[in-house]
Amino acid sequence: MKSGTLVITGWSGFLGSRLRNSLTEHVRVIPAPRDLIRSGSAEELEQFLRRHRPDAVIHCAALSDTGLCETNPAQSFHANVALPGRLARACAAAGTRLVAMSSDQVYNGVRSLEPSSEEVSLAPVSVYGRHKLEAERAVLSACPDAVILRLTWLFDLPVRGLKTNRNLLTGILDAAVTGSPASYFVHDFRGMTYTQDLISAFGSILSLPGGIYNTGSTNTLSTYDTAIYTASLLRIPNPEVLIQRNEDAFRDSPRNLTMSGEKLAAAGIRFPDTKEAIARCLSDFGLLRQGSDV
Ligand SMILES: NC(=O)c1ccc[n+]([C@@H]2O[C@H](COP(=O)([O-])OP(=O)(O)OC[C@H]3O[C@@H](n4cnc5c(N)ncnc54)[C@H](OP(=O)(O)O)[C@@H]3O)[C@@H](O)[C@H]2O)c1
Repeated sequence: MKSGTLVITGWSGFLGSRLRNSLTEHVRVIPAPRDLIRSGSAEELEQFLRRHRPDAVIHCAALSDTGLCETNPAQSFHANVALPGRLARACAAAGTRLVAMSSDQVYNGVRSLEPSSEEVSLAPVSVYGRHKLEAERAVLSACPDAVILRLTWLFDLPVRGLKTNRNLLTGILDAAVTGSPASYFVHDFRGMTYTQDLISAFGSILSLPGGIYNTGSTNTLSTYDTAIYTASLLRIPNPEVLIQRNEDAFRDSPRNLTMSGEKLAAAGIRFPDTKEAIARCLSDFGLLRQGSDV
């Protein structure tokens, strides 16, 4: 995006803080007030949008801790379903483009081991996954022009002043620094996306037709093998000692959150695969050792 005004919700979060930081170089970014987002009515949100007349709202606010959602479903519903529903009604009334974040966790429960397309039938097994799916439906029903991004697990490394959620790379670096092993699922398959790749795609994302899009890097490795690959790039000695195999989780039925990126690719937006993205992130932070086998 070369010019214009964007409103970002959840601008203090992992993705929102990075989007705000990067997009400010190109466009005017208005951080949505926390209280308005937490408890404002659709009418109050609409007034805010009419006052600022942004080109789009990028909705990153959510309760993204899946464990917390599981134990606090009411809190999850408030943040992950009711809020995007209100915001979608406000955007529709004000005529404002809405780009809302969903998650690959809507695919949690899919039995196929193939990457899922946006059309597969879904019955997510977690509260977070169910609420994200409910939110997608609420948003599109109120605002059919909205763009919904089903994101993979995001990764990045800490940057001063920006929030960093725990991700595969920070987990492995923590383990390497403390010497205390980290364990990763052997029967788990999911893409992982470098936040900078997602942010770079935003110019194109903003002009997508309304609908749901699988968004992010693909991955053919299990989560455990992705961790071993990352440790090898970091030249961690004896990675199998520090990175432990968790064989118990999903033993009877592997978890497959991998998504087909064909719909987004047809719109001209492509992501590198997870291995390539991890190598580039480590390189960006000066952590890719000479001679690493990328
Ligand atoms: N990170 C990932 O790997 C990932 C993967 C797939 C999808 N997503 C989705 O991408 C979006 C951004 O994720 P993230 O990782 O940036 O999340 P995050 O770091 O947890 O940030 C969430 C943001 O939402 C705000 N928030 C929390 N509870 C709220 C509530 N009840 N009402 C309004 N705002 C609330 C937080 O504000 P405070 O600072 O005030 O708490 C924060 O700014 C979310 O929709 C998430 O589900 C993330």
